[in-house]
Amino acid sequence: MCGIVAYVGYREAYPIIVKGLKRLEYRGYDSAGIALLNGGLNVYKKKGKVQELENILQNEAHLYQSKIGIGHTRWATHGEPNDDNAHPHYSANKRMAIIHNGIIENYDALKQDLINKGHEFESDTDSEVLIHFIEDIQENEQCSLEEAVRLALTKVVGAYAIVIISKENDNQLIAARKGSPLVIGVGQDQKEYFLASDATPIIEYTNEVVYLNDYEIAVIRNNELSIRTIEDIPMTPYIHTLEMELEAIEKGGYPHFMLKEIFEQPRSIYDSMRGRINASTGNLVLGGLIEHKNRFLSADRILIVACGTSWHAGLVAEYLFEEFARIPVEVEYASEFRYRNPIIKENDVVIAISQSGETADTLAAIELAKSKGAFIFGVCNVVGASIPRATDAGAYTHAGPEIGVASTKAFTAQVTVLAMIALLLGRQNGNIKESRYHQLLVELENITEQVETTLKTDKQIKYIADIFKEARNFLYLGRGYNFPVALEGALKLKEISYIHAEGYPAAEMKHGPIALIDEEMPVVFIATQDSSYEKVISNIQEVKARKGRIIAIVNEGDEEVRKLADFIIEIPKTNEALTPLLSVVPLQLLAYHIAVMRGCNVDQPRNLAKSVTVE
Ligand code: G6P
Repeated sequence: MCGIVAYVGYREAYPIIVKGLKRLEYRGYDSAGIALLNGGLNVYKKKGKVQELENILQNEAHLYQSKIGIGHTRWATHGEPNDDNAHPHYSANKRMAIIHNGIIENYDALKQDLINKGHEFESDTDSEVLIHFIEDIQENEQCSLEEAVRLALTKVVGAYAIVIISKENDNQLIAARKGSPLVIGVGQDQKEYFLASDATPIIEYTNEVVYLNDYEIAVIRNNELSIRTIEDIPMTPYIHTLEMELEAIEKGGYPHFMLKEIFEQPRSIYDSMRGRINASTGNLVLGGLIEHKNRFLSADRILIVACGTSWHAGLVAEYLFEEFARIPVEVEYASEFRYRNPIIKENDVVIAISQSGETADTLAAIELAKSKGAFIFGVCNVVGASIPRATDAGAYTHAGPEIGVASTKAFTAQVTVLAMIALLLGRQNGNIKESRYHQLLVELENITEQVETTLKTDKQIKYIADIFKEARNFLYLGRGYNFPVALEGALKLKEISYIHAEGYPAAEMKHGPIALIDEEMPVVFIATQDSSYEKVISNIQEVKARKGRIIAIVNEGDEEVRKLADFIIEIPKTNEALTPLLSVVPLQLLAYHIAVMRGCNVDQPRNLAKSVTVE
């Protein structure tokens, strides 16, 4: 969602900000804008892509005369996507401008007050209200801008990451956050600073970053960074060193990030296991779990909270934890959990799964569970993001930056980490026999090679995609461990190709979806040779009897399904519990190829955001 980029230093700000906004495009947005101090405070903004903004600025004079600027990509919440609602927003006297990510919930009341005082607004946004409010406070209190920001934020309800630029000092940016991400990159010798929603626009300049915490206000003035809380308590900025490489956020020869990330999975799964698992010695160590193992082992139950693809990984985890560790598990959509007055006990362990570590609902679910005394464990990909910082402990998935909006390698890394936790706990509490445990470690280690083999089906999947690219609906069916994979396959197709798709447990098909089946309906079965294989074959028969067109994911050498299906895609055989790591891959590729063939913007599908930072 909304992306923030800002720069102050000795270089030209405009190219740095434009490049930064392009790096943030993956987050999802509908308009873009920039403010520069170039002989005045000038705001340039436009509905559409960053490229469209650049195009209209081609003949603009003085763009390259500013060493300070703020930029924004907007994902509409209050007010439709148009030029006026795009950020930055000026204050009433145009002395300053703001960019904002988040939602100011009490903006309506604040706006009404300001209108009564004679303020006029150019947009429908809550963000414009905030900058007018700050200005109003500054005028009334006759205080510094940073003090006005502080006072305003004590009265604001909602979430925000903001950056303010002002005519009063061309070497000053003021930023603050609560609930929405903001990272500050510290350039060499502290002569320049970069602010952004995540580290991707920053890492080509510096790997030293400061993560702003909730309720903190940062002032960068004359090359110095100071941080205070909104209670006016000074904080010492803590500089983290990022390990991210620039290549990790570039396409590396692939036409789309999504394809690159699908093909990266042997590596990303390996990275999620690296240093943690050793099948030959039987060692399985997750640093974040060591101290807290007993908290898990004595838990009455595990609650998993997540959204989207991460929720699907949570469903796989439910099967894994219950099978191997025999600990009861409940998997919840974070957005439902937080509002349904759930029973949470001190003896519960809550696992929050999130690729971005910034999903607002997941973050709020964590806060709720924390307030009830539960122990919170995070499984996140983005190092230093809000969720890993809000949890009691956690394990990073180490899949590397995921840029494609449709999550792929993050899912398989999540499942890998969750499988490791389940095995570790199962061994500790004696629910897995040693021989089975060792066998599973071997199979887990072999998975990367098997994913490599699975990726070889790409050509054949492209062929199948071409046949079904015009379909209006798809059904995805699986059982057991492959049921969440069916959900994930359907989600991938919906997200990027805009074809309606539903995932279902294969046996549930008879209770509804079977009514949809006719010769027009492609049905994707995940029919690997596991404990429900025979049952799935019966379900395939039922679809065949109704002339549905069957695409089946099967194990290598399968003969039975081959006789029934119109198309088969073969994947290697592994332990049933690890099958999702393989069976999801052809579904990712199928969605990808269909979307490309339909001319869809695969990496930035319409209306979607990579990290959903508002509820
Ligand atoms: C958005 C993304 C999905 C993702 C979901 C949860 O909807 O488009 O790909 O699965 O958020 O995100 P998280 O970062 O918490 O895993």
